[in-house]
Amino acid sequence: MRVIFGRTAGALTALALSTGVAAAADVEVLHWWTSGGEASALNVLKEDLEGQGIGWQDMPVAGGGGTQAMTVLRARVTAGNPPSAVQLLGFDITDWAREGALANLDAVATEGGWDAVVPEALQAFSKYDGHWVAAPVNIHSTNWVWANKATLDELGIAVPTTWDELVAAMQKVKDSGKVAVGHGGQPWQDATIFDAVLMSTAGPEFYKQTMIDLDTEALGSEQMVEVFDRMTVIRGFVDDNFSGRDWNLASAMVINGDAAFQFMGDWAKGEFLNAGKVPDQDFLCFRFPGTQEQVTFNTDQFAVFAQGGEVKPEQAALAEAIMSPEFQQAFNKVKGSVPARTDVSVEDFDACGQKAYEELKAAASSGNLMGSMAHGHANPAAVKNAMYDVITAHFNGEYDSATAAEEMVSAVELTQ
Ligand code: BGC
Repeated sequence: MRVIFGRTAGALTALALSTGVAAAADVEVLHWWTSGGEASALNVLKEDLEGQGIGWQDMPVAGGGGTQAMTVLRARVTAGNPPSAVQLLGFDITDWAREGALANLDAVATEGGWDAVVPEALQAFSKYDGHWVAAPVNIHSTNWVWANKATLDELGIAVPTTWDELVAAMQKVKDSGKVAVGHGGQPWQDATIFDAVLMSTAGPEFYKQTMIDLDTEALGSEQMVEVFDRMTVIRGFVDDNFSGRDWNLASAMVINGDAAFQFMGDWAKGEFLNAGKVPDQDFLCFRFPGTQEQVTFNTDQFAVFAQGGEVKPEQAALAEAIMSPEFQQAFNKVKGSVPARTDVSVEDFDACGQKAYEELKAAASSGNLMGSMAHGHANPAAVKNAMYDVITAHFNGEYDSATAAEEMVSAVELTQ
């Protein structure tokens, strides 16, 4: 199959070149992988496709979490000119499929036996109405802490395992004159921390009730007020210049020893690796204190935009390349995530990768694997964006915690 697609696409490219039509068989891929670590991972995919004679037309839209990329995508689709393939998160896939914008990938999926190797939690987003509409490239988890080991050693800080220990550790760092938390004040980054704080403060049942089931009573409860109070505590440990900072610059603060901790998904590991840093030697990865048994996850998937017809050979080749076990292994080692297939060995992944994999499996079997709200896997974009607004307004001091809990209720009610 792969060879056939490769040849077809190669022939199309040759035809395009001979007729002077620029790269008719290129795939144009819209994505937001623009940081150093992300770009290294993306290169693994570009090279894989180029090896099959398929050209890559890059459509990067900077902005972590894909917020800006989704705005650009909407504009392209509205103009009747969608890219051939797009990086999408969770409920965004469902939303686009519902609009009829995505091509049906059943033929490639059947040929590749995807049903048997993609975990159910991912298939829930890869399929719409029983049909494959996206190819999952990875599984990220978001409730991580990234720490500078030398700083922790120097200050005699052990890995915190509870909220109180975390607060004590952050205080110790602050007292030493360093920044405790490297953070970028952008709504999706605030929300990434919120996911972890909520899970840690109130547990998986409450996470499910509020973030997934959108239970308004729980959303406006005292427990939610406490979650926001803890967000205020964290706000006291970021530096003065946090506002608007990109997430990879916040990672760089930890990498360079300017900050001790970053609360971020495991794409942050890609930045550490890209800077030549080694887990357990230069940096530590551990679950946000109080969420050791839980995993909030997201998965990057590539959907093919229908462009008014059948799946084109180069689009099929892209989907097929993404699902190849060899590619998933090579790519995810660089990206910081783990493979989206259950049949790919992670034996030679680094310590953080192995930990991520084991913890994901354990959380899945104990019912503690939940979609990340911040990364579009708990509720649709309309709800997510409304929650972002409240979380960021609170983080920036516009709401006190009680008001923020009330605003969460209104935000959800308005979107229903
Ligand atoms: C994506 C990651 C990406 C991160 C930062 C997340 O939503 O799943 O692949 O690295 O955003 O941009």
